[in-house]
Amino acid sequence: MIIINILVTGGAGFIGSNFIFYIFKKHPDYRIVCMDSLTYAGNLNTLKPLLEKENFRFTKTDITDREEVFKIFEEENFDVVVNFAAESHVDRSIRNPSVFLKTNIIGTQVLLDATNEFKIKRYHQVSTDEVYGDLPLDRPDLFFTESTPLHASSPYSASKASADLLCQAYCRTFKTPVTISRCSNNYGPYQFPEKLIPLMFVNASNDKPLPVYGEGANVRDWLYVDDHCKAIDMIIHNGTIGEVYNIGGHNEKNNLTVVKTILKTLGKGEDLITYVTDRPGHDMRYAIDPQKIKDELGWYPETDFETGIRMTLQWYKDNEQWWQEILDGSYQNQN
Ligand code: NAD
Ligand code: DAU
Repeated sequence: MIIINILVTGGAGFIGSNFIFYIFKKHPDYRIVCMDSLTYAGNLNTLKPLLEKENFRFTKTDITDREEVFKIFEEENFDVVVNFAAESHVDRSIRNPSVFLKTNIIGTQVLLDATNEFKIKRYHQVSTDEVYGDLPLDRPDLFFTESTPLHASSPYSASKASADLLCQAYCRTFKTPVTISRCSNNYGPYQFPEKLIPLMFVNASNDKPLPVYGEGANVRDWLYVDDHCKAIDMIIHNGTIGEVYNIGGHNEKNNLTVVKTILKTLGKGEDLITYVTDRPGHDMRYAIDPQKIKDELGWYPETDFETGIRMTLQWYKDNEQWWQEILDGSYQNQN
């Protein structure tokens, strides 16, 4: 498909910003409009190098604001919509589910309606492996495939599963040209320091306790963010409408291993590890079978965990100002 103008929602967040950088590197002539309401997770500092660029536009817009969203669709002639915008943190969804339902479900509906109204060629929904629930630790032979039933555990994952169902319903009922990707845990530059890896880096750097939930035995299938961006780029260009693609693969680590790797890399002692009360409903293991996207689009994860974590920790070391401004709250002055 020929693409000229992409709407990236949630592009001031972690994966969305990495996706914008990835696309500009790979397709420097494309135009990108970033639509983001700049919640606590959005950070305009991240996009600063792009703000003066001719083929980039930032708009501070909430995806649940139908009137504003439709106005921007009318102004721009989008070829593709990639929806990253979401409330994304499981712990916050346990404390306050409402905003998750609003952004993740209603926001998706607004974007799907705009896609139909303005006859956009492709709507891509960035979903998560969490919609499948979890796998037991004692069955390493089991993996999530695209036909694994949806079985969400948290308000966050239930809201993402709802959005996926809505996308599939729009595709069937209105012929909305939808694709969906379900991806495992990302890590890399610009991740907000509430998520495991950046939180542990920041705490360890400040000699503060590293809060490990339960026994730290939960397993995640870690995916370097650039590998995720590459997969989405392939899907929007060559993916099949109506299809779901799982993204991830074979980088499974338990949390304690991840935390110990961070401590070792930073030269800090394991005495900083503090075992704290477990997350309610905590999913045990996520593991993706990425065979479909490999067979159909030729994608595979290029970055192994050892390489990816080294690059990520180096990025956080080199970009202390970026995360210090989050810790002291001053990043929100830009917003
Ligand atoms: P993030 O929390 O870092 O960023 C989310 C962005 O969305 C922020 O910039 C925020 O300001 C924006 N946003 C939130 N509500 C909005 C609204 N109502 N209107 C407009 N913008 C809004 O999230 P992330 O980790 O980059 O995740 C991006 C997407 O990928 C999400 O849909 C998430 O569910 C999905 N995902 C994330 C991971 C992961 O490991 N981080 C894995 C699989 C899927
Ligand atoms: O699998 C994809 C999902 O990965 C995405 O859909 C979510 O948006 C993203 O936040 C992530 O969800 P997790 O809950 O897996 O990520 P988080 O970084 O919050 O936690 C990773 C693991 O580390 C999890 O087992 C909980 C644990 N943890 C997390 C934090 C923040 C701790 O032990 N201590 C902590 O302080």
